[in-house]
Amino acid sequence: MAEKKAKITVLVSGGGTNLQAILDAEKSGIINSGEVSLVISNKSDAYALTRAANAGVKTAVVSKKDYPDAKEFEKKLIETIDSNGTDLIVLAGFMVILSENFTRHYDHKIINIHPSLIPSFCGEGFYGLRVHEAALAKGVKVTGATVHFVNEIPDGGEIIMQKAVYIEDGDTPEILQRRVMEQAEWQILPESIEKVCSKIICK
Ligand code: GRF
Repeated sequence: MAEKKAKITVLVSGGGTNLQAILDAEKSGIINSGEVSLVISNKSDAYALTRAANAGVKTAVVSKKDYPDAKEFEKKLIETIDSNGTDLIVLAGFMVILSENFTRHYDHKIINIHPSLIPSFCGEGFYGLRVHEAALAKGVKVTGATVHFVNEIPDGGEIIMQKAVYIEDGDTPEILQRRVMEQAEWQILPESIEKVCSKIICK
C-alpha cells in the first residue's frame, strides 16, 4: 500500500460513469497512489453527485448560473478546489470549457478523458455524441479514447494514454459511445490516474 496518496478532485456534469470507474478502481486497488477526496459538479442534479455521496466522498456544486461571468465562476471553482488541497484535477465528463487562466493555474495538474483517438474528432465542438457521429460519418474503422493533460488548447494537451476500439457494422452513435466507454474510457482513465498520481507522490 502506498503510504502517501495524492488528493484528487473530480469535476463532473452528468451521469458519472467515469467517476464510478474511478471510485471502483480505488476500491479494487487499481488506483493506489491517489484518492478522490472531492467531487465538484456544475449541475446540481448530476447523478454523479449521488455516486460520490454513495461512496462517502465529499461533494460541492459550483454552477455557472450563480455567477455574473465566467471569471467569477472559475474563481469560485479554484477556491473550492484549492481549499481541498488538491494534487490532481480529473475532468470526467465536465461540460465546461476552462479558460487559459484556469489551465495555466494548474499546469500538468488537470487530466481529461476524450472519447476518440486524438488528434481525430477532437477540439472545439467535439463533445458527447457528436464525436461518435463524426467518426461514423467519416467511416473510420477504429476509434477509441484518449486521456490527456489539459492546457489552453481544447483537447490539445500532452497525451497520457490511448486505447483503440473497433467500429462494427450497424453501429449508431449511441451504441458506439457505450462501447468506447466500456472498452476504453473506464479502463484508461483509472490507469492514467494511477500513473500520474504515482509520479506526484514520488516528487
Ligand atoms: C464521456 O463520454 C467522456 O468521454 C466525455 O463525457 C462523457 C461523460 O460520461 N468527456 P459520464 O458522465 O462519465 O458517464
